[in-house]
Amino acid sequence: MAKLKNPFLLTGFHSVKYFCDREREFETLKDHLANDRNIVLYSWRRIGKTSLLKYLLNTLEKEKKAETLYVDLLSTNSTVDALELITQAVYDKFGKTKSGLSAAFQRLVGSIGMSLSFDPHTGIPAFSFSAGSSPKPETSFRVLGEFLKTRKQTVIVAIDEFQRISNYQNQNGEAVFRSWMQSFPELRFIYSGSHRHMMTSMFAEKNRPFYRSTQLLDLEPIEYSEYEKFIRYHFSENGKEITKAQIREIYVWSRGQTYCIQLICNTPG
Ligand SMILES: Nc1ncnc2c1ncn2[C@@H]1O[C@H](COP(=O)(O)OP(=O)(O)OP(=O)(O)O)[C@@H](O)[C@H]1O
Ligand SMILES: [Mg+2]
Repeated sequence: MAKLKNPFLLTGFHSVKYFCDREREFETLKDHLANDRNIVLYSWRRIGKTSLLKYLLNTLEKEKKAETLYVDLLSTNSTVDALELITQAVYDKFGKTKSGLSAAFQRLVGSIGMSLSFDPHTGIPAFSFSAGSSPKPETSFRVLGEFLKTRKQTVIVAIDEFQRISNYQNQNGEAVFRSWMQSFPELRFIYSGSHRHMMTSMFAEKNRPFYRSTQLLDLEPIEYSEYEKFIRYHFSENGKEITKAQIREIYVWSRGQTYCIQLICNTPG
């Protein structure tokens, strides 16, 4: 793999070489999945949830242990938006054949009641409910689940920015996702979100629908000793100097926030 010009990445996951630590969390996540447990991953903003998720999903795909689906709910405002986004992700991952849409996927879109359109410029298909239709998210999620269940390998559905569902208006997004998860014990679900309080209360309060159905992982800042090794290694690999005191200062000033540390180390000068 080609060496990157700047080893301190500011977006997502590239490869293990540019990824600091997270070994323990990585093993915990793998262990939960291997034992058929669903997962909630939460932390403050920009600590590294998405990157860790991408690392995990990449690895499981590479090891041929599972098939994975990643969706980011950030742009969604309703369960219907979420459904359209997830359908698109299922198509991107499992619905294509060399000649276009697979027959199974066409049947799926039909039974959900979605219509298919093609981007006039790119020809890429897009799935949406037509105006005037009255989508039934619960039913549609069930149809998607039935489709994913038929894959030979276990499908892991990773849903990022999950706290977004609390902004859905007049809809019980939480209940829709809970019933989806509970109806499909064959599928694995990972919910990731950054509103710590909301994520924990949603999954931990007894009277909330998700109670006790999942394992919680609270992602803490990367430990100082690990980050120090990582920063030192990449500086020396690139012929640059940095002192222990400087690394300490960066870590303390950033309060351990991964993005902030990466940004400072990424910036020359
Ligand atoms: N283990 C790591 N080693 C090096 N860089 C990392 C690591 N984890 C995350 N990063 C970097 O830190 C930044 C924030 O990571 P990421 O986007 O994964 O966090 P997040 O918790 O998902 O944030 P948000 O709350 O905004 O969704 C990114 O620039 C990413 O490249
Ligand atoms: Mg994220």
